[in-house]
Amino acid sequence: MKIILTGSNGLLGSSIKNILIERGHICFPYSINRQGIDWNIDLRNNVLNSNSEVLIHAAANTDVEACERDPLACFNDNTLTTELVAKLAFELGLKLVFISSTGVYGNYKNTPYSENDECHPTTIHHKSKRISEELITSLSISNLIIRTGWLYGGSMDVKKNFVAQRIIEAKNKEIIFSNIEQFGNPCFNDDIALRIVEMIENESMGIFNCVNDKVASRFDYVRAIIECTGLKTKVLPATADKFIRSAPVSNNEAAVNLRAEKLNYTPLPDWSVSLSKYIDSLLS
Ligand SMILES: NC(=O)c1ccc[n+]([C@@H]2O[C@H](COP(=O)([O-])OP(=O)(O)OC[C@H]3O[C@@H](n4cnc5c(N)ncnc54)[C@H](OP(=O)(O)O)[C@@H]3O)[C@@H](O)[C@H]2O)c1
Repeated sequence: MKIILTGSNGLLGSSIKNILIERGHICFPYSINRQGIDWNIDLRNNVLNSNSEVLIHAAANTDVEACERDPLACFNDNTLTTELVAKLAFELGLKLVFISSTGVYGNYKNTPYSENDECHPTTIHHKSKRISEELITSLSISNLIIRTGWLYGGSMDVKKNFVAQRIIEAKNKEIIFSNIEQFGNPCFNDDIALRIVEMIENESMGIFNCVNDKVASRFDYVRAIIECTGLKTKVLPATADKFIRSAPVSNNEAAVNLRAEKLNYTPLPDWSVSLSKYIDSLLS
């Protein structure tokens, strides 16, 4: 397939690009986040010239704290941009794949959210994602919306790589405190990217949670990272109030891939298994 991809330099986008190429697709990376171009016209030309059938929109303003401080910039970068991308895709007859977040569910349950649960996002960033999802669904049914979780992956240099950041922190500290009250699914970018590509190949449509299996507290996650590295740094639990954030991020971003399970997709690996393999390869 010929597939145009925004956000191809990002944590998830770079993995999607590699997996598309590995599986024999033709990937056209497109960068929206550039100064001095009318990207809307330029993207249209790129879609037409490339003859693409699918547009994956993985670009976003992913700084949840900055979004909270500057809601207008956040809605411009995420919602308005997504609306224009979606209109273009549907006008030119492309299927749209939009990357969203399990953060859209909000903070009203103590158990993992499924696609049947309502969305009550608590932060500006997650509101911008939820409004984008609604816009896309109202514009066309030819869409695939992926709600993913706590992403990591890539090399040690990737700024947004949570695992790499914790390894660097552990090398410089004897003790790390980590939130024992926040829950989610640590998600390996290559596992998520592969599932997205499989879903495109299978022509799956609609909203899917897409997270590695099983739930972790942030504390479980950080402790597992440090254990896998063999470093001697202690990881100690701390309550949520010890971490001051601008954005009121939900304490429960955990999800289950209920729709994928019903459609007989093989379960994604347990987060701790993928994490351990990833750290082995990162350190070897
Ligand atoms: N990281 C997570 O834990 C997480 C969790 C749930 C959902 N997601 C979603 O997954 C998708 C990919 O996330 P990621 O972690 O791979 O993101 P990332 O590493 O921050 O990359 C995002 C990409 O978006 C583009 N971009 C950067 N700043 C932008 C801005 N202000 N406005 C518009 N585009 C901008 C850039 O595209 P170019 O490559 O073209 O320069 C960048 O490479 C996003 O939609 C994100 O919301 C991420």
